[in-house]
Amino acid sequence: MATLIATTAQAQDGDPARGRTLVANRQQGLCLLCHQAPIPEERFQGNLAPDLAGVGDRYTRSELRQRIMDSSAINPGTIMPSYAKTTGLTRVAPAYRDKPIFTAQQVEDVVAYLTTLRAETK
Ligand code: HEC
Repeated sequence: MATLIATTAQAQDGDPARGRTLVANRQQGLCLLCHQAPIPEERFQGNLAPDLAGVGDRYTRSELRQRIMDSSAINPGTIMPSYAKTTGLTRVAPAYRDKPIFTAQQVEDVVAYLTTLRAETK
């Protein structure tokens, strides 16, 4: 946990536009493989996980950050990847071993975007 906090401390405030791009990205974030989000230009969104629309009303910024960095800390059985955790993982492809999926800055950008997803913007 201490290391996770240290990594986010190096990041600037998140940028919601960059976060939206990361969430929509099919190579890196892959969020839309499992989730739907209010990103109408992306077709074929997932239905394995809760719709991200309105998620900014359901969780605080730090709760969202926790879910992006290490969802398995909340639900050990989750299928959601840990985007900023490198220890204690199993079945990691060699290219990704010891490397988080997102940088600390990317985590902040995604969190900033998610906080903009309020019910009235659905
Ligand atoms: C492989 C599937 C998968 C991927 C990829 C994935 N998630 Fe998830 N996510 C889930 C599941 C399943 C849950 C439900 C919680 C659980 O499993 O404990 C979840 C929960 C969440 C939650 C909490 C939602 C709620 O309403 O409770 C947020 C926020 C979230 N994910 C954001 C993201 C973001 C942002 C990305 C991409 C950076 C992402 N997820 C990628 C499967 C995924």
